[in-house]
Amino acid sequence: MQRPVQVDSPGRSWAGERVLVRADLNAPLDARRVTDDARIRASVATIRYLLDNGAAVAVCSHLGRPNGQRVDDLSLVPCAARLSDLLGQPVELLADCVGPDVEARVRALQPGDAVMLENLRFHPGEEANDAAFADQLAAGFTAYVNDAFGAAHRAHASTEAVARRLDACAGLLLGREVEVLGGLLGDPTPPFVSVLGGSKVSDKLPLIENLLDTSDRILIGGAMCFTFLKALGDPVGTSLHEDEAAQQLALRLLDRAGKVNCTLQLPTDILVADRFSADANLQVVPSDAIPDGWMGVDIGPRTSAAYRDVIATAGTVFWNGPMGAFEIPPFADGTRAVAEAMASSPAITVAGGGDSGAAVSEMGLADRFTWVSTGGGAALEMLEGAVLPGVAALPVA
Ligand code: 3PG
Repeated sequence: MQRPVQVDSPGRSWAGERVLVRADLNAPLDARRVTDDARIRASVATIRYLLDNGAAVAVCSHLGRPNGQRVDDLSLVPCAARLSDLLGQPVELLADCVGPDVEARVRALQPGDAVMLENLRFHPGEEANDAAFADQLAAGFTAYVNDAFGAAHRAHASTEAVARRLDACAGLLLGREVEVLGGLLGDPTPPFVSVLGGSKVSDKLPLIENLLDTSDRILIGGAMCFTFLKALGDPVGTSLHEDEAAQQLALRLLDRAGKVNCTLQLPTDILVADRFSADANLQVVPSDAIPDGWMGVDIGPRTSAAYRDVIATAGTVFWNGPMGAFEIPPFADGTRAVAEAMASSPAITVAGGGDSGAAVSEMGLADRFTWVSTGGGAALEMLEGAVLPGVAALPVA
């Protein structure tokens, strides 16, 4: 996979540059307070690098989906405050991201200054990848650094068009994401094991298809396993599962796995509950004998042990999607078993694409993984084999 030119390329001087840094600060908020600052923390290294090397920086990002209108609850105020804490210096939030006042402020920036532009998606031109909006966004800057891996699957003005208007390169976070996730597709150290959970086979079809070609083994968990089990003719009780069409897809995936020599492994036992609640009655049953009126809420202990053994002897492990309804503590054992097995494994271990990354962080295990991706949709699209517009717009090293 071709790698974009990176901000720390040898010989690149940043002294005196005014740099537009596209970050993904799309953090979860509760009453305008940041509840998980992982993405903001992940953006710091590149900003710090630029400031330490004599540049002035204006950070831009989207937050939520305001649909081209100013929505006060989606102001970047809380993100600017958090970034300021993390950088240990003031980060003033400008009132807008484009316009004559913003341009004047940008031109007046001095080396070491950091400001933040207001939510890009307050303007319809952002999501439209509009040329005139990209011209305005680029005004006053001498260079552009894209560190927003989480938004790299969007062809928006701040991720795509603006990269073609300024001297552009990748930030440290985006560069590392492309290196690690690209490595899974390129030449993973064998055996390559993918662990896939989540609710729907149909949502993850392109991902599973692509991973069948590169993985030696795929371990299935989460509600998607019930679509596979149902397709194989097993009773699934009231477990979440998909319709006949998705079951046919599941059968085709099992068939294709056989042809490409990838073992698609399904749970052999399931934790079932009589209702979806922390105080439900629970029992562990064989995966081909889920009783009527009971729903699968997690993989069972025998499956957890088997998956742990596979992970312990892998060369590379990629994980996407929880093994059960882990947000309810009695249903979290399977997800925790996978997370702990990966944290203890000497293999290259990567979590990405949404809830599994959040689960790893909540369990305090992120530091023991090789990499926990900051990308949700972007990580999935990359592993599906798609070209990400935000990466493709950058010059290649
Ligand atoms: C994300 O949270 O996955 C990214 O920030 C992209 O957000 P979007 O799905 O609203 O484009």
